[in-house]
Amino acid sequence: MIYFKNGEYLDEQQMNVSVNDRGYVFGDGVYEVIKVYDGALYTVEEHLERLLESAEKIRIPLSYTIEQLKDLSKQLVEANQLTIGHVYLQVTRGVAPRAHQFPGSDVEPVVIGYAVNNPRPIEQFEMGAAMKSVDDMRWLRCDIKSLNLLGNVLAKQEAFESDCQEALFVRDGVVREGSSSNAFGIKEGVLYTHPANNFILNGITRRVVLQLARDLDIPVVEQAFTLEEALVMDEFFFTSTNSEITPVITLDGKQIGNGVPGLLTRKLQSAFSRQLPMPIAVGHAEERVSNGSAS
Ligand code: PDD
Repeated sequence: MIYFKNGEYLDEQQMNVSVNDRGYVFGDGVYEVIKVYDGALYTVEEHLERLLESAEKIRIPLSYTIEQLKDLSKQLVEANQLTIGHVYLQVTRGVAPRAHQFPGSDVEPVVIGYAVNNPRPIEQFEMGAAMKSVDDMRWLRCDIKSLNLLGNVLAKQEAFESDCQEALFVRDGVVREGSSSNAFGIKEGVLYTHPANNFILNGITRRVVLQLARDLDIPVVEQAFTLEEALVMDEFFFTSTNSEITPVITLDGKQIGNGVPGLLTRKLQSAFSRQLPMPIAVGHAEERVSNGSAS
């Protein structure tokens, strides 16, 4: 694998990070995951803008432009001959002897990146997933794509240990987001999701889905809802760069709707697949029937 580190492209042997990197010691950094479909970076500007915003919010002085970050991401895709997968970018405050306060202004941020092969989880898109609600014990700046993911890691593990694929964060009785995704519910034809504030990460996939819903004339309400309300939604799904639109068929062991992916979720999945920069190999039943390309 070819890595990027502060302006250089390095192989596995050459790549290393310091034990004093503040990302390693404090989780003092931010990151992005950018999907690659058919060798093309998807919604790359949006991801890179969010990376710069996250860095700014935690006061990391990053001197890279969007163009430079885009260029290095493309180089990683090419150097690793990636067709389907993702680019991971990470920025830390740099390397300095351990002390909580920021190091001096002479300390440069450390930017690393790599590209990894990662097929689309088609079966999960088709079959749906099980979700488990967990207490949201994270900090109050979930809008920052921070490297501090301990709350997310513990939540995901708790879900996995209950044979669920994703955890649903609930704070003050209110559904916030997934452990690595945004959460959506559909009730009587209306799409509900948490507003983009400090309690959630404003997902890039979330933004795409909201736009697709508007294009499909599905009413959208960006308003928080409770776990009780979530449990009686007609449909439920979560979204992220890698999980795209994943239908939820059970929440806390209780069936959502009829316990199969819902119709509007299917419509959104089809619309999502259609706008991807690749020949579509996703066989949603609805799509197969309507375009006659069953295989
Ligand atoms: N996770 N909320 C959280 C807490 C996330 O970690 C993510 C993404 C999302 C969805 O964001 P997007 O649609 O931009 O991927 C929401 C990434 C992919 C990860 O940590 O691997």
